[in-house]
Amino acid sequence: MAIERLVEPTLAENNSEEEKIEISLRPVSFAEYIGQEHLKNNLKLAIDAVKKRNDGSTLDHILLYGPPGLGKTTMAGVIAHELGASLRVTSGPAIERAGDLASILTNLKDGDVLFIDEIHRLRRAVEEVLYSAMEDYKLDIVIGKGPAARSVRLDLPHFTVIGATTRTGSLAGPLRDRFGIIHRLEYYKEPEIEQIIKRTAGILGTKVQPEACTLLATRSRLTPRIANRLFKRVRDYADVNGDGIVDKVVAEKALELMEIDYLGLDPADRNMLRLMNENYGDRPVGLTTIAALTGDETTTIEDFYEPYLLQLGLLARTPKGRVITEKGRKHLRNS
Ligand code: ADE
Repeated sequence: MAIERLVEPTLAENNSEEEKIEISLRPVSFAEYIGQEHLKNNLKLAIDAVKKRNDGSTLDHILLYGPPGLGKTTMAGVIAHELGASLRVTSGPAIERAGDLASILTNLKDGDVLFIDEIHRLRRAVEEVLYSAMEDYKLDIVIGKGPAARSVRLDLPHFTVIGATTRTGSLAGPLRDRFGIIHRLEYYKEPEIEQIIKRTAGILGTKVQPEACTLLATRSRLTPRIANRLFKRVRDYADVNGDGIVDKVVAEKALELMEIDYLGLDPADRNMLRLMNENYGDRPVGLTTIAALTGDETTTIEDFYEPYLLQLGLLARTPKGRVITEKGRKHLRNS
């Protein structure tokens, strides 16, 4: 990814310190997990049913989708914890060949949970091996090449796949059909983000005033990962320029320094809206044109910029492309 943005909802790559902190902040149980009540209730029911039956059956495969940063990986960890199962984490792009998947699958144990992030990026050949593994816990592998090649069928342990994707649309139909439970993670509500920030402050041992939590919650794009990232930067500001206490004034100054506006937009969001407005006004514009204007990949626009701008109503999708709304134009005038 070409851009490095504070409001980026993906985990920065090669940033092990950030990753370590994020992992320490992750809730491990449903009781600790704030928000996504509907999803939690559905999952609790499914998990309780498996536990109550206690007949060796496993939890249905689960597909979680929605914008990045809303807690899909965290939820996979919680599910494994609540099941009392081990969690194995991998991702679509990390499984390069069918053999890689075979080695992951044959190392699982009964009841284990296999989390596959970015499952829409699995290669076709790998996807096909996954179908039969998910469907009847069998692994079909071809041994040898040419006329001597033969196919063998191995039994696999009974495991549960949790797939995560930002886009269900790009998931192959047959793969989607193998998931018994399919759920969308929603943007959080502001009071939930406030609670998450308070929890984070507690874990990091930072004093924070309620007004500062409220302010940060309004700037966090309703996304816990962004809330935690902003909080850490504000905490740095408080440590360097003050007494380490995060109050409203400190939060305001730090946000100003980061150029994050009252809706949580950063310079890159505003730049995209401005370019659309200046070049197209109220006419729709195609995704590839927007990407050319900003210099980003189309997937970056679709996955990172758009979902929150659509949610706020600053941008709209039409059959002919994207348009900046009146609300979007007003925001530009006021910022
Ligand atoms: N940290 C990040 N996401 C969280 C959540 N949903 N609940 C509690 N803490 C979190």
